[in-house]
Amino acid sequence: MKRLLASFAFLALFLFFLVSCYYDNEEALYPTLNNTCDTTNVTYSATIAPILNNNCTGCHGGSIPSGGILLTNYTSVQTVASSGLLMNALKGNGVPLMPLSGSLSSCNLTQFQIWVRNGMLNN
Ligand code: HEC
Repeated sequence: MKRLLASFAFLALFLFFLVSCYYDNEEALYPTLNNTCDTTNVTYSATIAPILNNNCTGCHGGSIPSGGILLTNYTSVQTVASSGLLMNALKGNGVPLMPLSGSLSSCNLTQFQIWVRNGMLNN
């Protein structure tokens, strides 16, 4: 009986140390995969167009869009994206960083990257 108790105590202690060593911070491990960043259902209509409407079309819309870049319809967005210019502007790679007021969130940047990588679909 004493032996059983001792081994039980040992097991409990062992489990305690095992559990206490486990430290997992989701935000630190996956900075762009927290609950508020959807990286699995990235579509043009539900993800990309709303980001553009909120951050870009104020300047890149209308009849005289800034820099001659129109971002209000799929075809023009796809053209700017497939040339690489869209991602370069979003990262400030060799061209002025867009939006001018400061970079998009890392979540939105990841979503653009995913959309481009998946073939810039009109979905
Ligand atoms: C406050 C106005 C403003 C906003 C908001 C804005 N832009 Fe621009 N954008 C400009 C202007 C002005 C230019 C021309 C910049 C230049 O050549 O100096 C430009 C240029 C660009 C270019 C072409 C870059 C080049 O050098 O050819 C791209 C691509 C672009 N913007 C994308 C975006 C995207 C994507 C967003 C939103 C995430 C955005 N812009 C938001 C004003 C804006």
